Amino acid sequence: MDLRHDMLTHGVNIVAAQHEGRRAGLAVAWATQAGTDRVVICVGSHSATRELILGSKAFGLSVLRADQLDVSRRFGTQSSRDVDKFEGLACHTAETGSPLLDDCGAAFDCVVEAVHDRDGVKLIVGRIVSAEFVRESYEPLLYREGDY
Ligand SMILES: Cc1cc2nc3c(=O)[nH]c(=O)nc-3n(C[C@H](O)[C@H](O)[C@H](O)COP(=O)(O)O)c2cc1C
Repeated sequence: MDLRHDMLTHGVNIVAAQHEGRRAGLAVAWATQAGTDRVVICVGSHSATRELILGSKAFGLSVLRADQLDVSRRFGTQSSRDVDKFEGLACHTAETGSPLLDDCGAAFDCVVEAVHDRDGVKLIVGRIVSAEFVRESYEPLLYREGDY
């Protein structure tokens, strides 16, 4: 069986967290809404943002539009350990303390409800505490097989 990453088509989201004065974010394709009030994200051990999500027990999820490829590349190809990916990008702090992008399709503020560990990858269940519908309607940025 030939198993690879990104065999399904996903939207691209920026998942971000803030903890003890540090903020970080990464591009996440492995994310889904689970019912009306939960989202599930999947974050690997490589991610610096993951440490802040687990530390703050919260994360913000901003859904990217099709015209935001540059934002996906900014958050998906470099580590928050090396750069502040938010520099020059308009964002605000949600109720949980997590950063959300001002400019995106929609945004969710979540608290971590459960964490499942599987081979170093963490499946993180977030309960949505608030949602912002930034655009009435928009084309989502799609990702599959390592390409947009
Ligand atoms: C379009 C796209 C989707 C991605 N999806 C995921 C994902 O679902 N989970 C994950 O752990 N990493 C994913 N990545 C990789 C991280 O975004 C990348 O490793 C990032 O640099 C980690 O940043 P951080 O160390 O600041 O957290 C994706 C990258 C791209 C470009």
